[in-house]
Order: sequence, then structure tokens, then C-alpha cells
Amino acid sequence: MWTSDDLESLVKRDLSDYRLIVVSNRQPYVFNIDQYGNLHSEMPPGGLTAAIDPLMRASGGAWIAQSSSAADREVMDPRGRIPVPYESPAYTMRLLNISEYENRGYYSGFANEGLWPLCHIAHTEPIFDSEHYDCYQTVNRRFADLVLDEIDDDPAIVLIQDYHLALLPRYIREANQDAVIGQFWHIPWPNPDIFRICPWQDDILDGMLANDLLGFHIPSYCRNFLDCVDTYLDAQVHPDRGRVDYGDETTLVRSIPISIDFDSIDAEARTPEVEAEMLRLSRQLGLNRGRILGLGIDRQDYIKGIPHRLRAVERLLEQWPEYHGRLVFLQVGAPSRTDIDAFRQHNIDIENTVNRINERFGREDWQPILHWPTTLPSPTFSALRRLADFCVVSSLHDGMNLVAKEYVASRVDEDGVLILSEFAGAAHELADSLIVNPYATKQFADAIHQALNMDVAERRRRMRKMRDIVRENNIYKWAGSIMQPLMKASASDHSRLVSTA
Ligand code: G6P
Repeated sequence: MWTSDDLESLVKRDLSDYRLIVVSNRQPYVFNIDQYGNLHSEMPPGGLTAAIDPLMRASGGAWIAQSSSAADREVMDPRGRIPVPYESPAYTMRLLNISEYENRGYYSGFANEGLWPLCHIAHTEPIFDSEHYDCYQTVNRRFADLVLDEIDDDPAIVLIQDYHLALLPRYIREANQDAVIGQFWHIPWPNPDIFRICPWQDDILDGMLANDLLGFHIPSYCRNFLDCVDTYLDAQVHPDRGRVDYGDETTLVRSIPISIDFDSIDAEARTPEVEAEMLRLSRQLGLNRGRILGLGIDRQDYIKGIPHRLRAVERLLEQWPEYHGRLVFLQVGAPSRTDIDAFRQHNIDIENTVNRINERFGREDWQPILHWPTTLPSPTFSALRRLADFCVVSSLHDGMNLVAKEYVASRVDEDGVLILSEFAGAAHELADSLIVNPYATKQFADAIHQALNMDVAERRRRMRKMRDIVRENNIYKWAGSIMQPLMKASASDHSRLVSTA
């Protein structure tokens, strides 16, 4: 099993004199100033920073991201550089300041109103606006300037994250032929018929083919990407070898499923702090009085299928009145990207659905749906996962979905049932969950009923198998699987990754 120490040793051994540069839209460390004027730095929740931070500590490289707060300006030097972690610096975070106008076009516009719905196929129409695309190009160029400045003609490996930066590989490559460049695409990739909706389809593909290595979560996203290249560009695609030859460039396309830090989530779930939270929540939610808890944890996003799961709970209550007064379904998670109309409208839809179901079935002493549109401290999330009789992940489409894996890692008692959408990347590995089609409300309600009536031996058998899978395929394995081919390429004198294809 991979650990963060294994990653550090791998990088120390194989990176040699290459400089490691990571680029993402979000910062690995966020600064804020409290009411007394004291500066605090924290790592945002989520596996990505946890996985890449050990790589960065071992390499002493640079992580380039967009600046997100005024507090950043208190700590950065004139070039936007901040040594991190703040208390014991080991590498450099370099921040790009972009204007509100640029951010509206690059992040909210092209990335989140265009590429996000395009890649997710969740029936929200993508918006492709040429002014937004201009900003996307400008900001990707500005990221490239910072990368090139950090490389400073030294040998370098550049590891780019996600759909905000599809053009960045090309912009780097135009100025630097020698850098080894890899990119991980954290969301799904659509088939050619869907992808052709994007008016700049060729630019996007051309940008991404400047990568030596391109990672997606599961094989079908790789296949879709290769089909798009085959359909729209003049390139040689070798699907069996996961390889594209494009002019004199070669890109390897690999499925590398992202994961979580299983051990730390497992360890947190066993702490006295979490056990105390479980007692408190159990009283608050009436579980100590025999109530059953269903749980959904998501950023409020239309791809997550939140109204669909609420309708399945409604159907369950219609069909099996024995759950009235007993079942509580808790939906928790903060609103997200609220400057975008489709996201704001979605928040209203959720609220309306919750109210409608509660008005229909609720009683003075019981509401079937609880909606907490907020984020919570990590031990509270952990306690909720431990308490939930079932957890629902009902994405209409999702690159991976780490909530599913977090639920499994938290179930140190090997109990609980995961109900998982067949359209989430996680369904590929977590075949021992109850797999549902979130659009098929009746079957979805049946699956909840099945979860609530599954005997304990069956629940344990399934949970144990899923825990073994997630424990083995953890976030460190993901990071190692990306770094190994990149470092191998940097060590070979062949044209980058070709020798490893
Ligand atoms: C998805 C994306 C990430 C993104 C996250 C949160 O998981 O793949 O790149 O950071 O959503 O979205 P936000 O827009 O708040 O960064």
C-alpha cells in the first residue's frame, strides 16, 4: 500500500535535477486574517492538496495557482511568491492575480458555464461566449508566463490540474520544447457528438496534446478523448496503446483513478472527538430514539442529482408508510459557484423540493428531509458518515466522486450501505455498492428499501470488500502513478514519453 513517505522517497530518488512545477486553479494553502489581525494559513479540505503536498515538500518545487484572497497580498513577495507551509516552508506557492472581469470569463464563464456542463452531460445547456473564451486564453497565457518564469530554462516537470487550464500545455510548449508536461483532467470527457458543441474544439484538443501524459479517471473518458482526437484532428490515434501521435508530438492517455487518504479518514473516524460528535448528533437527529439516517454530502451542483435522490426518498415514503416518522434523510453541503445562474437556480430547486416533500409527509414531531446547505468541520462529517445507515451518491455524471470513497473509509465498523449512481466514475471500483440509475425513481426507491432491509452479514461483506479496494488504491498511489511515467520520461533522452509507450 502506498504512503505519503513512499511518494516522498520516490520523488527524492527519481526526480534528479528536474524542477517540479504544479499548476491548478485553486491554491494549496489559503490565507486569512482573523478579527484580531492575525494571519492564518490552512490547507483546503480534499484529497488533491494532501496528495501533491508531499511531492512538493520532497522536491522543493513551485505550485502556481490563482490568488483567492486579499490576505495573500500580505504575505506574497512582489513576484507573487509565498514560502509554504507557512510555519515551516518547504516549497514555493506562486499566485496569479487576475481581474474580476478576467475571472468572470475564464473561471465562471468558459470553464464553469461552458466546459463543466459540456463534459458532464447533465442537461444544463453549455454557454460558449467568445468574450469568455478570450479571457480563458488570456488567463491560460498568464499562467504559462509564470510557469516559464519558474522553469527559467532548467529541466522541469510540469503537472497541470483540470479543465481550467486546457490551453496551458500548448502555451508552455510553444516556448519550451524540453519540459515534461502532464495534465490530469478531473471531470468526465464527452463523446465526439457532444464535444462538437464547443466552438473551439480543435484549440482545446490541440492544447491538451501538448502534454506528454494526459490522465483521466476511467477508461471510458480516455476512449472518448481519443475518439474526439480521431474525429476532429489530423493525428494518429492508437486506442489499444492509449497513445496519440500528433505532428512530432506524442501524448500518452491513461486512466488513473483518483482517490482519498484512506488511512487518515479511517483514523479520524476512530477518534474520541468523532465519537463525541456521534453522541451529540445521534441525540439531535433522534437516532437514539430508533430513527434511521440516510445521508447525502455534496457541493450544491446540478451534476450531483440532489433533487433526484429527494424524489426517490419521496417515492419510498409513498410506497412504504412504515418509514413515516422513522426515516430522516439529511442533505448537507455548501452552495457552490453562486455567481452562475444555473447553480443559483439549482439551489432554489433543491429548496423547493425539500419543502414540498416535508409539507407532504412531515408531522409536528418529524420532518423526513433535513437540509443543511453549509459546510461542517471535518469531525462532524466523519461522525455523520459513521452514523448513516445508508449514504447516497446519485450524480447524473461525475468524474470520480470522492464522497463515496470517504463514506467507505469512515465505516470502521464495516457497516452501512452505499447507494451509488452508475454515472459516477467511482462505480467502476465500488461494484459492491447498490448501483442505481438516478433518473429511474422507482428503482432508486427500491434500492433504498433494499439497503434498509439488507442483513448485517451482507452489509459487512460488501463494505469490507469496498474498504479493501479503497485502502489499496489510495491517493498516494494515484499521485505515484502520475509521477512515475513523468519522471521516467525526464530520465530518458528519447523524445519524452515515447520510450515508455
Ligand atoms: C471539481 C473540480 C475541481 C474544483 C472543485 C470545486 O471537483 O474538478 O477542479 O476545484 O470541483 O469547485 P470550485 O469551482 O469551487 O473550485
